[in-house]
Amino acid sequence: MNINLNQNKNLKLFKIISEVAGKNNQTVFIVGGYVRDLLMKRKTPTDIDFVTESNGIDLAKAVAHEINPKLKVSVFKNYGTAMFKHEGLDLEFVGARKESYAEHSRKPSVETGTLEDDQKRRDFTINALAISLNKENFGDLIDPFDGINDIKKKILRTPLEPSQTYSDDPLRMMRAIRFASTLNFKIEENSLKAIQQEAERIRIVSLERIMVEFNKIMLSEKPSLGLKLMEQTGLMQLIIPELTALKGIEEVEGQTHKDNFWHTLEVVDNICQNTGNLWLRWAALLHDIGKAPTKKFVDGTGWTFHGHEFLGSKMVKNIFYRLKLPLGADMKYVQKLVKLSSRPIALVDDGTSDSALRRLLFDAGEDLEDLFILNKADITTKNSSKQAKFKKNFEYVALKIKEVEEKDQVRNFQPPISGEEIMEMFNIQPGREIGILKEKVKEAILEGEIGNDKEEAKSFVIREGELLGLILQ
Ligand code: CTP
Repeated sequence: MNINLNQNKNLKLFKIISEVAGKNNQTVFIVGGYVRDLLMKRKTPTDIDFVTESNGIDLAKAVAHEINPKLKVSVFKNYGTAMFKHEGLDLEFVGARKESYAEHSRKPSVETGTLEDDQKRRDFTINALAISLNKENFGDLIDPFDGINDIKKKILRTPLEPSQTYSDDPLRMMRAIRFASTLNFKIEENSLKAIQQEAERIRIVSLERIMVEFNKIMLSEKPSLGLKLMEQTGLMQLIIPELTALKGIEEVEGQTHKDNFWHTLEVVDNICQNTGNLWLRWAALLHDIGKAPTKKFVDGTGWTFHGHEFLGSKMVKNIFYRLKLPLGADMKYVQKLVKLSSRPIALVDDGTSDSALRRLLFDAGEDLEDLFILNKADITTKNSSKQAKFKKNFEYVALKIKEVEEKDQVRNFQPPISGEEIMEMFNIQPGREIGILKEKVKEAILEGEIGNDKEEAKSFVIREGELLGLILQ
């Protein structure tokens, strides 16, 4: 089969590479994700990989020189690869390798191989497709493992025996699940079995690499596809056991609770319809994380998860730390949303007093809309009248909050009176009284005792200051 590259945006580049390789007596092929995505008519590429059956570094240098003698080429000698940037694309060149394991050694001896040797060593048949850039068969698809058929059938299959492919690089277990989730492909049965058997080997892979794949799953249209596969293969238990701890339904005195693992997956899928924000999706993934350790059956009340949001938000930090995820603003944002996740709905039950609404507004600040997106996604009941009721209640809370916000403006609360002003009023030096008085002002505003207003705050500070023994100057 020939792939007509005449209309391809990169035709000029491919011609140059073809010419240069020809002149150097080297073969050259496009391989990997670029070919897969081209055949699937998917996304615009950011990188293109090329394989030559001789020295990849030499070819990269020669091509770069032909394009522009000043182009900077990065060389990774140990891997036999070299790359450079061209018109926004990362172009990477590698020499085809044949990997053979000496019988008494685990260390592979890496020799130059043929294109097919190289294709066999790749992860999936759909990633092992190559397009020739050689003059005699320019554009020919070279597909020894019938990857094209797997694309049609939407199947992820390894070119070699699955256990061999996965033990060569256990990260591929996560990649299989990532591709299944992002492309909506099925993992072929023997491959799935191999992942189940080899799951433990994921421990030798760095968490950074695992999380790159995990976050790609989280950014897919329906992450539950990948999350379910992680659960089914045992990988979830190894990577985020706090999530698998949510699995299962218990029954005491005829009372049950929902399975919070499957509920969580539904919430994640729901939220993905309304946000592409990775960390908001993470908040959905972790919003019930505190439910396993707080679960209790209380006589007369039934199942309770008292304080799960608070504990959950503490757990977020441990999880992020362990998974080597960023611990700055993104983690704090997830913590905050987990902590506040039940607050808007609790307001419906406890009554929407202005002070409770003001407090929520104050605590959520600029993340209030995101909290609402999470709350909406959290409604997973299949009972349509219940669903309508939850939605209505929730919209009522959102409306009330809007009203309070317009009236009191506490969302991005700025104290109406500053520490300097307080010091001046009582002619005092910096000290603990300033903090106490400022906190009291904030509380009084949130409770509705005074308005968010300078004059009211001043009179309030005078009264409270006197109680602390301070004298107005
Ligand atoms: N590859 C592999 N095993 C890995 C990683 C990569 O065999 N653990 C091979 C595959 O042939 C893959 C190619 O290297 O197609 C390039 O890998 P990478 O750029 O990481 O992924 P892509 O397949 O290009 O997919 P994406 O762009 O969606 O990340």
